[in-house]
Parts: sequence; structure tokens; C-alpha cells
Amino acid sequence: MRLLFYTAGSNAESWLEALRRVLPEAHIDGWPSALAGEADYALVWKPPVELLRALGQVKAIFNLGAGVDSVPDVFALPPDVRLVRLEDAGMAEQMAEYVSHAVLRRYREFDAYAEQQRLSEWRQRPRRPKSEFIVGILGLGVLGTAVATALAPFGFPLRAWSRTHKLLSGVATSTGMSELDGFLAGVRLLVCLLPLTSQTQGLLDRARLSRLPQGAYVVNVSRGGLLIDDDLLVLLDNDRLAGATLDVFRDEPLPPEHRFWHHPRVTLTPHVSAVTLVEESVAQIAAKIRCLEAGRPITGVVGREYGY
Ligand code: NAP
Ligand code: GLV
Repeated sequence: MRLLFYTAGSNAESWLEALRRVLPEAHIDGWPSALAGEADYALVWKPPVELLRALGQVKAIFNLGAGVDSVPDVFALPPDVRLVRLEDAGMAEQMAEYVSHAVLRRYREFDAYAEQQRLSEWRQRPRRPKSEFIVGILGLGVLGTAVATALAPFGFPLRAWSRTHKLLSGVATSTGMSELDGFLAGVRLLVCLLPLTSQTQGLLDRARLSRLPQGAYVVNVSRGGLLIDDDLLVLLDNDRLAGATLDVFRDEPLPPEHRFWHHPRVTLTPHVSAVTLVEESVAQIAAKIRCLEAGRPITGVVGREYGY
């Protein structure tokens, strides 16, 4: 079996070492390779379009991440080639940690207490009614579900929005564009866990963000392209929104001149809310390759018509 491997990241050696250990029978070529056309499987992160064009009859392309938006021109891949994304592989726990921290920090007003400490001010702030602190999750897939499940024991009212109808105990669910405005109304903290697709690109614009109540918070942990940066900044500047926690950006690294860097209401991190874990990911991909070799079906195949 021949694998073609490429990552735009800096840890190719860790991947190759893990792949050789878990799939000792495989012959692994790194891109660029004259043998790309003979690969049975390709494992890629942010591949150049030339790599995809060089592939022959691959049985599957494994994306080394949950989001496949960095695979150029997904729709141009031959229809019989499976594009497979990572499902959890250790990311769900990380995402649950990150978002739980963001929610608790805002609800318990830790920023206000940090400021009080700076001023040596001893003042107990009134407890906010939890029943009014509705947390809304855009996307109830692998990661959205993990986040909702992690938040449930804290007792926040939870809502989630997805493309197809979903049921999750303790979560009020809604579906599709016709229910989006109703979903947003009343959400005090909005978590974005949607994939970036032609349907979700720029979804969080001024009109949609203005559906949130005065003083709401936004947490974007999926992709920067979902959010219109200038619209968020206007709403933060004019006190309509109270704060944003951002892990993902249209341009990464975030350019030094971007206003997000120094905005007093923005907290940002460099795309670390849920990083790809090599060992877990290789184990998942190897198990799927073994299934395909045995003629069994696998999960995580990207639906071309929806792009995720
Ligand atoms: P997933 O399992 O595919 O879940 C995606 C969810 O979004 C599903 O609930 C899906 O609805 C919903 N959705 C998709 N298109 C929609 C639309 N047009 N309208 C309404 N809902 C829509 O993906 P995941 O594994 O949870 O990952 C989600 C995203 O997180 C990834 O695509 C990636 O961009 C991002 N991510 C970020 C990091 C990070 O470190 N920042 C790490 C990993 C992933 P259905 O349930 O109806 O299909
Ligand atoms: C990371 O952002 C991923 O999509 O896995």
C-alpha cells in the first residue's frame, strides 16, 4: 500500500514516525513525489492544488484536521474519491475545555474582578441569574456536541443550531436559515462551531450579530471566514456587544496591524482551541484505512454537496 503525505505544518517528522509505526506495511512518499500518481491514499494538511492534480486513483484523501476548507477546490476532486476529515481524535476534549473557560470567564465576570484587583477594590458583584445566560452553539456536530455536553452540568440554558434536525438532551435545537434569527434572539454567549463552506461564509455579519441581546459575547472557534471582522468591531465599539473571544481569523497569522490585537473587548489566541494530535489522528486514519482495505464503510466522509 502506498501513502502520499504532505503537511503545511512544521511537524512532518512526527507524523511520518507515527505513520511508519502504526502502518508498517505502507510505503510512504512525501510530497513532492514522482510517485504521487501511484498513491492509494493521500494524507494532507493544506495541500497545494498541484498535489491533488497529481493524484491518480486514490481510494481516499485524509485531511489532517476537522475542517476541510483548506483543501483547494474540493468540488473539483473526482466524485468517487472520498475526502475524509478527522472526527474528534482528541479535539473534542480540547474544544470543551476552551469554550467552557470562555463561558465561565464571562458569566462569572472574571475580567471585572481582575480590574477590581488592579484598583485594590474589594467589591462583591451581584450574582447574575443563570437562567438568563443562554449559551447558543452554532453547529451541533462532533465538537458542538462535546461543548454542549461539557456545559450541561453548569446549568446554563443551552441552544444549538444545525443544518439538519438534531436531538440532544437538555439542549433546545433549531435548524436551517429560517430558524436562525429566532435562535440568536436572547443568546447571551454565542459559540461558533460551524464549518466554513459556501453557505456559512460571512454568516456572522452586522445584521445577524445585532440579533443578539445588548451586552452579549461572541466566541469564534471554527473559522475566521464565518465572521465579518469590521461588523464585529462596530458592535464592540458602540457597546452593543460586550466582548469577543477569537481563536480563528480570516488571515492567519493575524496581521500585526489588525485591530483585534489591541481591542479592549477582544481576547484572542493563535488557533489553538483544539489542535490536531498526531498519535490520535494517525490511529484514527490507520483504522479507517484498514476498514477500506477490508471493504467496510467508514465515517467522516465529506459530503461534497455541502462541503463539510
Ligand atoms: P461537524 O461534526 O461536521 O459539525 C458541523 C456542524 O455544523 C453540524 O452540526 C452541521 O449540521 C453544522 N452545519 C454545517 N453547515 C451548516 C449550515 N449551512 N447551516 C447550519 N448548520 C450547519 O464538524 P466538527 O468536527 O464539529 O468541526 C466543526 C468545525 O470546527 C470544523 O469545520 C473546523 O472549521 C473547526 N475546528 C476548529 C478548530 C480550532 O482549533 N479552532 C479545531 C477543530 C475544528 P448537521 O449536524 O445538520 O450536519
Ligand atoms: C483545525 O482547525 C481543524 O480543522 O482541525
